[in-house]
Amino acid sequence: MSYVDAATFAKPVVGGGFYPLSVAPMMDRTDRHFRYFLRQITRRTLLYTEMVTTAAILHGDRQHLLGFSPVEKPLVLQLGGDNPQELAQCARIAEEMGYDQVNLNVGCPSDRVQNGNFGACLMAQPQLVADCVAAMLNATHLPVSVKHRIGIDNLDRYEDMANFVRIVSQAGCQRFTVHARKAWLQGLSPKQNRDIPPLRYQDVYRLKQEFPHLFIEINGGIVNLEQVQQQLQLVDAVMVGRAAYDHPYLFATADREIYGETMQPLSRYEVAEAMCSYIDEWVAKGLKLSQITRHMLQLFSGQPGSKVWKRHLTENSCRPQADSAVVREALMRVSEFSAVSTAECLTQSWC
Ligand SMILES: Cc1cc2nc3c(=O)[nH]c(=O)nc-3n(C[C@H](O)[C@H](O)[C@H](O)COP(=O)(O)O)c2cc1C
Repeated sequence: MSYVDAATFAKPVVGGGFYPLSVAPMMDRTDRHFRYFLRQITRRTLLYTEMVTTAAILHGDRQHLLGFSPVEKPLVLQLGGDNPQELAQCARIAEEMGYDQVNLNVGCPSDRVQNGNFGACLMAQPQLVADCVAAMLNATHLPVSVKHRIGIDNLDRYEDMANFVRIVSQAGCQRFTVHARKAWLQGLSPKQNRDIPPLRYQDVYRLKQEFPHLFIEINGGIVNLEQVQQQLQLVDAVMVGRAAYDHPYLFATADREIYGETMQPLSRYEVAEAMCSYIDEWVAKGLKLSQITRHMLQLFSGQPGSKVWKRHLTENSCRPQADSAVVREALMRVSEFSAVSTAECLTQSWC
């Protein structure tokens, strides 16, 4: 049985829709299958889609790009674009499709995104971002937020970011997610831009102090719930990216520790088991098993049997007709492995 049921969605959320913990939008990672998987681990954490461009939504296969299961909610659609009318149209579509919020990407430094004049380069055009946000707010009842960097290139003083936030907030935006690193638009790849520029958390704390009426979420380099709790002393919310993908089970205690829930989380085994009926539904529709299991590889990260789990899934998920049986076999391998480890632990003093 799935961890999430309909009654859960009816529950009011702490802070009237202001979620203190979220999992970052990540291209090629936070697709619907990863989100469904993560929902078996945490039902309250706010989830984001990958960035979807306005052009793709307006001219592409909308159901394929934007479809999701209600289980994934609360869910934010992240948009990439720089045209207020097109963004407004997409925000309206997001509302019709049942998304909970819309977010504008002002943080991606990739060449492709820069060529489209959106992402991080928009930090140099705060008035255009303000126009985009105003158009989106006009078009929908959904909350609209902006995810941005602390700066780009030489526009990287605290004052530059504060000016950006001031202008965009005057257009009605009340929620900002700040990736606490600047981005270099030339010379660094997107991956390097997530690691090389140093983290400047102080700039984000100062932003919260100087704009206390705004909802400020911090992002970048936060890797466990202890750090999340520390950050929450200084800002309104925390967004976790890579650590959520690399160690998804980290979020098992999030509902209790961050949202004050009392319900026990599913064990790793139960999470995998809960994915099986979902997997078979999608495989029956023609999806390759690996499209789902690739997101589950890290479920046992740091645990005995993690390598066995990953190897079994990787080696068997691409086989023709592969279905949830592969996941169940992998679970058996993990349990056999753990049993051996436990037995070893009982007899070996070094354990
Ligand atoms: C593989 C990958 C893809 C990403 N794609 C997006 C994206 O689509 N939109 C976005 O705003 N940020 C994207 N990011 C950046 C993350 O949202 C986040 O800001 C960044 O990873 C820093 O947070 P972290 O240190 O917790 O990972 C991506 C990051 C990674 C690792």
